[in-house]
Amino acid sequence: MSRLPRPNSTLRPGERVVEQRWDPARYRRNAAFVAELGQPLLELLAPEPGERILDLGCGDGALTALIAARARVFGVDASAEQVAAARARGLEAAVADGTRLAFDAEFDAVFSNAALHWMRDPDAAIDGVWRALKPGGRFVAECGGAGNVETVRRALAVALARRGVDAEAASPWYFPAPEEYRARLERRGFRVVSLALVPRPTTLPGALADWLDTFAESFLATVPPQTRPTVEAEVEDMLRDELADAAGIWTVDYVRLRFVAAKPPEARA
Ligand code: BEZ
Repeated sequence: MSRLPRPNSTLRPGERVVEQRWDPARYRRNAAFVAELGQPLLELLAPEPGERILDLGCGDGALTALIAARARVFGVDASAEQVAAARARGLEAAVADGTRLAFDAEFDAVFSNAALHWMRDPDAAIDGVWRALKPGGRFVAECGGAGNVETVRRALAVALARRGVDAEAASPWYFPAPEEYRARLERRGFRVVSLALVPRPTTLPGALADWLDTFAESFLATVPPQTRPTVEAEVEDMLRDELADAAGIWTVDYVRLRFVAAKPPEARA
């Protein structure tokens, strides 16, 4: 199977994107909306009793627990801290790299909310999902799509360029265009049932600086710790008129790529 180009073409040999770390307490404080706004995706998954479902990028298990109320579910996440938080809810979960899944035709469905955009090798992630699914299984997912958090990306790029840093080279995010992701799914053999880019302006529970602390660690890690609050303040200053209202409530330009894809019943591994 030939591959579409890797998305991180700006990385030079030897350069590495700094890994995002997940602190469950900080995540609960600043990112509970991720699971809340993911609930429509759960309805699209429509888990049935008796089904076995893989939650790819289960995070702290907030949505996994809702699936568990309706079907059998196993969560995987790259963060040991988030997996521990999911297990503390009584869920079955394990640490796994989403681009190196090792399941073999075990699941009726693979579900993924707000996780695929952290996986820099999309073909490897799609391949692992394909192998994890039984023939006839479905892949129901949502991630950031083309244009996601574009205003924040641009402001971060300006603030970091002032310090000689190429923000694109530091980016851990992959926000594909719909036609690109459809091509990747179809190339692996999936039948795309639906796939759409959905703008979803998202109101934050706190300051934009808290959002940056929670989600933009890879960018902030390119400057010394004592400089990070200044970078965050500059980003807020650049975006306040556009993204904050008079009461100081921030709404960020999220864009979701939402899709359902089927592994045909006649498919072999
Ligand atoms: C998201 O689209 O869910 C997202 C992507 C990158 C950083 C934060 C959130």
